[in-house]
Amino acid sequence: MEAKVEHAFPDRPQFQGFMKPCRMEGEVQALEVLGDIPKEIDGTFYRVMPDPQLPPFVQDDPWFNGDGNIAAFTIKDGTVTFRQRYVRTEKFIREREAKRALLGKYRNKYTDAVEFKIRTTANTNVVYFNGQLLALKEDAPPYALDPITLETKGLYDFEGQLPSLTFTAHPKFDPKTGEMICFGYEAKGDGTPDVCYYSVSPDGKFTEVVWLVAPVAAMIHDFAVTENWVLFPIIPQVCDIERMKQGGEHWQWSPETPVYLGVLPRRGAKPTDVKWFEYKNSFPGHTVNAYEDTNGHITLDLGLSSKNVFFWWPDAAGNAPEPSSILSQIVRFTLDPNSKGEALHLPSPKILQKDNTEFYRIDDRFATQPHRHCFMDLMDPTLGTDFQTIAPRLGGGYPLYNSLAHLDIETGETEIYFPGRTHMVQEPVFIPRKGSRVEGDGFLLALVNNYESMGSELHLVDTRDFTKVKAVILLPIRLRQGLHGNWVDAVDLKVSI
Ligand SMILES: [Fe+2]
Repeated sequence: MEAKVEHAFPDRPQFQGFMKPCRMEGEVQALEVLGDIPKEIDGTFYRVMPDPQLPPFVQDDPWFNGDGNIAAFTIKDGTVTFRQRYVRTEKFIREREAKRALLGKYRNKYTDAVEFKIRTTANTNVVYFNGQLLALKEDAPPYALDPITLETKGLYDFEGQLPSLTFTAHPKFDPKTGEMICFGYEAKGDGTPDVCYYSVSPDGKFTEVVWLVAPVAAMIHDFAVTENWVLFPIIPQVCDIERMKQGGEHWQWSPETPVYLGVLPRRGAKPTDVKWFEYKNSFPGHTVNAYEDTNGHITLDLGLSSKNVFFWWPDAAGNAPEPSSILSQIVRFTLDPNSKGEALHLPSPKILQKDNTEFYRIDDRFATQPHRHCFMDLMDPTLGTDFQTIAPRLGGGYPLYNSLAHLDIETGETEIYFPGRTHMVQEPVFIPRKGSRVEGDGFLLALVNNYESMGSELHLVDTRDFTKVKAVILLPIRLRQGLHGNWVDAVDLKVSI
């Protein structure tokens, strides 16, 4: 495709206002801190944002098609150092050389200006495992980065062990065994229904590899793991290679497709061991956690919406919900993984919290085990947000949450941290309190968009006093809306900062 060279970002909401690309790399030491950061907090908050280094030639490119720009906030002795650096993907390097965008539409190689070996932007999540900092996007293998300098080491195939073309942006970590549990979907290429499940030992060896064929070639963005099972929720956004070849979208909402939930034994499974449970057409979002009860039944908590959350990819007739009408709630499915029969259906889930929520986090020391506490982003228009001030500055195309929430699943009570009238929150991370083994006892740290200053802040909240802020850390720049991130305690980094 002959691409027009753009010298300015499109005049579209996803590239304007707070969403104007940041495009900054560098380091700032001793960020301003209002309040006190407890001395016991010692580690790094890594996060990634899609941040196009150059204007796309696709005018309505979605905001999350930008190059992965990784931020590291290192907290030590009450001070914070900020570093940010782009992942040097093949796309990033070649576009920098060409001084123009070469990549076409989101996950559609047929619209590119040149042929890429790897198209990924590495912009969805950043995790630390076995000495490697990995920048992830679900359409390719990870890129490995130096955890201190954030320099890109290169595409990472686990020393040749990676069996699939793709790798999830949401690997899970078993705190008891130290394993990383992962999968790739469209694992044999665009439009293939193949899913490859694998488990990696703490020292980096692939111990389980199982190839599955899903009932439909569709998106599997997140998944869940218990002690003995792996769960794959399929989003009814389907891929059609012929549509892509004609320059269309990779994804299309399919109102007639149910949610499929693949349930596979975690160890020693054969491809035929997978069971596909069905639930009515809806949109499964990020998972909270999953675990087994004493009867061997599985509890799966996740976000669920009755509407197409990815409204920018409508159905074949062009229908999409009005964004403000989309409600995603945290729900609980329970199922018997040993259910038998041809057509397995999931019973309706229990709604654990009624508000519009997403970006769920737990105390990761309880992953795969029963959990009581969930932290998340929440939107409650009654909290006092000054939407009039915010609206002209928002930019657009991204979900808005005006508070952090703590749900105690046992009591059903929700505590809210409201960061301010002109603020929206991004995904939080949980930091356990040193020396405490109590679930959920620690701190929540989240990047916050301040639309009055048009700058970014980190807000630190003590979970023992959730409604108040412990410290606000001011950045001298504005970081665009990002996706995911993780906290890495200094003692867990194999190199010292
Ligand atoms: Fe995600």
